[in-house]
Amino acid sequence: MSRYLITSALPYINGIKHLGNLVGSQLPSDVTARYLRARGHEVMYICATDEHGTPAEIAAAKAGKPVAEYCAEMWAVQKDLAEGFGLSFDHFGRSSSERNRRLTQHFAKQLAEAGLIREVEEKMIYSPTDGRFLPDRYVEGTCPNCGYDSARGDQCENCTKQLDPTDLIEPRSAISGATDLEVRETKHLFLRQSAMAKQLEAWIDTKADWPILTTSIAKKWLRDGDGLQDRGITRDLDWGIPVQKGDAPWPGMEGKVFYVWFDAPIEYIGATAEWADAHELDDAAWQRWWRTDLGAEDVTYLQFMGKDNVPFHTLSFPATILGSGEPWKLVDYIKSFNYLNYQGGQFSTSKGRGVFQDQALAILPADYWRWWLMSNVPETSDSEFTWEMFQAGVNKDLADVLGNFVSRVTKFCRSKFGEAVPEGGAYGPAEEALIAELTTRVAAYQAHMDAYELRKSAAELRAIWVAGNEYLQAAAPWAAFKQDPDAAAATVRFALNLITLYAVLSEPFIPDFSARVRAAFGIDSQPWPEDIGAALAILEPGHAFTTPDVLFAKITDEQREGWEQQFAGA
Ligand code: 2FM
Ligand code: ZN
Repeated sequence: MSRYLITSALPYINGIKHLGNLVGSQLPSDVTARYLRARGHEVMYICATDEHGTPAEIAAAKAGKPVAEYCAEMWAVQKDLAEGFGLSFDHFGRSSSERNRRLTQHFAKQLAEAGLIREVEEKMIYSPTDGRFLPDRYVEGTCPNCGYDSARGDQCENCTKQLDPTDLIEPRSAISGATDLEVRETKHLFLRQSAMAKQLEAWIDTKADWPILTTSIAKKWLRDGDGLQDRGITRDLDWGIPVQKGDAPWPGMEGKVFYVWFDAPIEYIGATAEWADAHELDDAAWQRWWRTDLGAEDVTYLQFMGKDNVPFHTLSFPATILGSGEPWKLVDYIKSFNYLNYQGGQFSTSKGRGVFQDQALAILPADYWRWWLMSNVPETSDSEFTWEMFQAGVNKDLADVLGNFVSRVTKFCRSKFGEAVPEGGAYGPAEEALIAELTTRVAAYQAHMDAYELRKSAAELRAIWVAGNEYLQAAAPWAAFKQDPDAAAATVRFALNLITLYAVLSEPFIPDFSARVRAAFGIDSQPWPEDIGAALAILEPGHAFTTPDVLFAKITDEQREGWEQQFAGA
């Protein structure tokens, strides 16, 4: 038994997330966490809301709420949705927690003492009317490139040109509309990543097993242009973690906060500490996951994220960890994902294009989404959600193959033998052949899961379901029943055992299915099938069950067309 620390990239607090957020971090991390638990490992699986920064402020202002209140509400909404999708976090924390504040200020102190922070005077846009500095995206004006009159100071939404707020024609405050903007000097802290570039590169070079997507992005940032740049880690905002050196004030930095990307990954640690607090455990309980001097030396730490998050996790966060000079646990494996597109374009929160998590759960149960998204996860390239593909995948894999198998076997058994595993003949060559095939397939499934290859794992799981269907089709107990009821009983007994085998193997991907099968067979918990032959003899003759209702209903063409329209966006 080993110990695994698993973190899923922290979703921003600013609203309900779409399926893209699920597919690129939360679902694959959950599938992995569930699998590793099922294999008997000790798992600590952590996520949280990423609550600081400008987007949170903007979203709260739009909702007409104080930002702290907005964040508390959205945290609860996101937590409920995570539960709805069956995400089995050990803790779902908040980056605005007291734990994260103390840890972030602690890391800043350590980095300062190590000489890895420098203070920089910068020129920024100040709005006297608003009484604050304006982050780039809080400045609006006319795009010098295309003339669009609502371009933001970081980028023009119309022509996508990257901008500097000072490029804008007739700039104004996005908060108040004020035009009396000034350029003022302000002091900020920079993390001296450049001083750590060699150390970071040497560390990344030891990670030959990482996905190419992860290492290629990291190397690009290390090597492009002038190499790894120092990074500003403070902002002139109200909402965030106050800049302090541990418990002590930071002269000259009064009123400033840490940049959201500085404190967000530290919340992986913070949330683990929050978990300990929530369970009334002492610090040692969370430190054994994070401090290599306090028990974490044998922990394997896995991170899951979309590709846009890779630079922060391969470079900035490790720079924080390494630069602290303290024995914090570094990540062992970074699994990153490409993007999921929607019907030939992008998901768009602002345009309401695509499916959001609350809408997804309102129309179909979590297993449908979990299965389709993970069997089409954008591992090697971007992938595409279309309603047609979704309908086809769900109907074929879940309804025709898996659901139909369970339904045929249990209903046939009920009608001929009653709702209990039938007595009857012994297993023969057909059963032996399937046991041999499944032994090979389950080993392949495990190997893919052990390599964090989600798509290949899903494909192998599907092949495992198909093999059962083919067996049943060939054995045809409905035909055999008249001449040889004993043989039909043996087939049914074997097939009922297959259903429970499917429950345990499929649980990482479709946990509701597994729970329903277990309930139908009155099974509390199932060991991982180390020996397939033994696993297919667990249900003994006489074991009672209740025939489950339809497990997976087919998506009709009408439904599909309706949803296509409903989610097309403005
Ligand atoms: O891209 C995002 O959605 C970020 N909120 C991810 C943060 S991951 C971690 F570092 F906190
Ligand atoms: Zn433009």
